[in-house]
Amino acid sequence: MPSKKPQPHKPAVSRRFAGALDRLADQGRLRSLNLPAGLDLTSNDYLGFAHHPDLRACAVRFLSEDTDVPVGAAGSRLLRGHQGAHDALERLAADIFGAPAALYLANGFLANYALITTLMGRHDTIIYDEHVHASMRDGIAASKAKSVRAAHNDLAAFETALKQAAQDRRADGEIWVLIESVYSMDGDCAPLDEMIDLAARYGAMMIVDEAHATGILGADGRGAAYAKAKASDYDRIITLHTCGKALGVAGALICARRDIVNYMVNAARPFIYSTAPLPVQAALVQAALELMISPQGDQMRSALQQRCDQVQAALGGSGSHIVPLIVGEDKAAVDLASRLQERGYDIRAIRPPTVPEGTARLRLSLSAALSRADLEGFIQTYKDIINA
Ligand SMILES: Cc1ncc(COP(=O)(O)O)c(C=O)c1O
Repeated sequence: MPSKKPQPHKPAVSRRFAGALDRLADQGRLRSLNLPAGLDLTSNDYLGFAHHPDLRACAVRFLSEDTDVPVGAAGSRLLRGHQGAHDALERLAADIFGAPAALYLANGFLANYALITTLMGRHDTIIYDEHVHASMRDGIAASKAKSVRAAHNDLAAFETALKQAAQDRRADGEIWVLIESVYSMDGDCAPLDEMIDLAARYGAMMIVDEAHATGILGADGRGAAYAKAKASDYDRIITLHTCGKALGVAGALICARRDIVNYMVNAARPFIYSTAPLPVQAALVQAALELMISPQGDQMRSALQQRCDQVQAALGGSGSHIVPLIVGEDKAAVDLASRLQERGYDIRAIRPPTVPEGTARLRLSLSAALSRADLEGFIQTYKDIINA
C-alpha cells in the first residue's frame, strides 16, 4: 500500500485570529499601535512629570555616577535583584503615605493582580465596583474567592452585598471591597469616605486603587484615601499607587500593614517569579514622590486645576482631569478622534470592551503641562467638528 504523505498542519489558530481581527474591523473595534503625534490630550502624565527636568537629571545621575549599580536588576527581588534603590523607595513611600509598609512592583496591572490572587482565598468574598480596572477583574477571575459585582458607586448596592456576605461569612473567611478612588474612563470619584465607613461597619478589608488620584488628590497628592488610611494605620485598607501616571515614571506602590507586605513577599507569584524593576526606575519614582510633595508639586496641581476648571466651564462634566467625551457608536468615535488628530490633537477613541457597549468615547486627559491657549484651541476645534 502506498504510504500516505502527512499533510502539513495548517494551524487552526491562524484562521481563528484572522477571523477575530476581521470581525473587530467590521465592528470598528480593531486596535493598532500609533506613535504619539500632536498635542498630548491622551496620556496620563497629569502633572507633566514625565517630561520634568528633575526626573531626567535623576536618571542621568543615577546611571552615570554609580556604576556599581546594575542597569538591569538581573534577578528577582528575593534573589540578587533587590537593590538599594528599591529598598530606599519603599522606605520613602511608607513614610510619605503614612503606611506601616510599602512594596514596589513593576506596574499597576501586576500589582492589582498579585494582591487579589495572593490575598483572597476560597472562603473569601470579593465585592467590587462594576467599573474597576481590567487588572482587578483579571485578578478576581483568577482568584478562588466568591465575587459579587456592585453597581457603580452605589452605596446601597454595596451595603446589600456586604450584608449578605457578612451573613454567609465563615470563621476563616474575609470580605474584600475593591474600588478605585477616581475611575479611569469616566473620571468620576468614588464616595470614598462613605465606602470606607461602610466596609468598616461590616468588618471588610478594602483595596483602594489610587491610580488616577495619586499625585493629585489628598494632602500633597498622597491620594484620596490617605487621611482615613493613615488614621487607621492601614488596619483594613490597602492602597495602590501606580507610578506611571501622574508620577510620570512606571511601577506601582502597594501601601499596607507590615504583615500584608510580608505575606506578599512570601506568596505573591508575580512578585516572586519575576525580575525586579530596573533600579533606575525605583530611583526615578523616589524623585517623583519628592517632587509630588514639594511646592513645585503644588504648583503643578493648581495648574492642572485651572485646566480642569477651563474644560468644565466650556464642556460641562464633573471637573475631573479625565473627561469622557461620549460619542456612542464605535466607528463614530474613531472618526471623531481621527479628525481631531488631523488637526494636531492627540486624542484617542476608547471603545468596548474597555467601556460599556454604546458608550464609545474620546478620553480627554488633562495635564498641568497644557496651556490655556492650547486647550482653548482644542475646545473650539472639537465644537466646530461636532456642530458641523
Ligand atoms: C485604575 C487603574 N489601575 C491600574 C492600572 C494599571 O497600572 P499600570 O499602567 O501601572 O500597569 C491602570 C492603568 O491603566 C488603571 O487605570
